[in-house]
Amino acid sequence: MDLERIVITGASRGIGEAIAYRLARRGRRLLLLARTERDLERVSRRARGQGADVEYRCVDLARPEQVEQLVGELERDFGPVDALVLNAGVANQRSFFETDLASIDYELRVNFEAPAVFLRHVVRQMIERNRGSVAVVGSLTSVVPFPGNASYAASKAALQALVRSLRLELASTNVHLGLVLPGFTATPMTEGMTSALPAMSADQVARAVERCLTARRPFVVPGLINKVGLRLFSAAPALTDAVLARLSSPRLGRRWRRTLWPRVS
Ligand SMILES: NC(=O)c1ccc[n+]([C@@H]2O[C@H](COP(=O)([O-])OP(=O)(O)OC[C@H]3O[C@@H](n4cnc5c(N)ncnc54)[C@H](OP(=O)(O)O)[C@@H]3O)[C@@H](O)[C@H]2O)c1
Repeated sequence: MDLERIVITGASRGIGEAIAYRLARRGRRLLLLARTERDLERVSRRARGQGADVEYRCVDLARPEQVEQLVGELERDFGPVDALVLNAGVANQRSFFETDLASIDYELRVNFEAPAVFLRHVVRQMIERNRGSVAVVGSLTSVVPFPGNASYAASKAALQALVRSLRLELASTNVHLGLVLPGFTATPMTEGMTSALPAMSADQVARAVERCLTARRPFVVPGLINKVGLRLFSAAPALTDAVLARLSSPRLGRRWRRTLWPRVS
């Protein structure tokens, strides 16, 4: 299926910016979404240089009225959407006990509620046309926990559960809904974080998103270490969580914790 009209959220930097460049080519129309106009302008200019027809819109995904308005006008303003990439996300990166409820709510609005609104509107229109492909960027951390990440992991787990359940309702249609689960990736979101685990590049994740959309893959986990981690933590959660708890204990695992976990340096 040719993907002519593509909408990408969180396209102003990081993984979303890399996705825009991966997908930009002659004959395609891209709509890039984020809050920061200066960055959207910069990414649009470069993507146009690759031959694509590129527009952008500034939208704050934490504000439900802006999201509703945007998706309500999407088909009228942009035309029928062939592919949707739900990539925008935020991470508190703080101990759960230092995170106030307003920050948790904000994280849930951007990481879960806004994608849910997009899915309700755009996937419904795709079902009516019986065509379309959607890639949702989740996170490996919803299966593989690490310290200081609880509310972010929970918001991504909610998103992943939504996608997996919704997929069952699409089983008799020609609409594809896939999940991409990146691990630690070098982007502005993780700037200042260090880890002994090698970080992936934003472009490696962007390639996984492209594969998810075009090969209509249900799950794509970029990187061998991430694939092994996902298998291990899914197959034996009690065992892996017990090992993690030991490694995370300040008393028993300080050395491990310092070298292994992504953390703010
Ligand atoms: N980096 C990693 O290690 C990693 C690992 C697993 C999963 N992920 C996921 O991958 C996705 C991209 O992450 P990234 O690392 O590229 O993050 P990033 O560099 O911080 O970029 C986040 C993008 O989301 C947009 N965004 C954030 N809040 C928004 C809001 N309220 N309204 C509209 N747009 C908003 C940002 O644009 P504006 O600020 O201009 O609005 C930006 O374009 C996220 O869903 C993240 O959870 C990242």
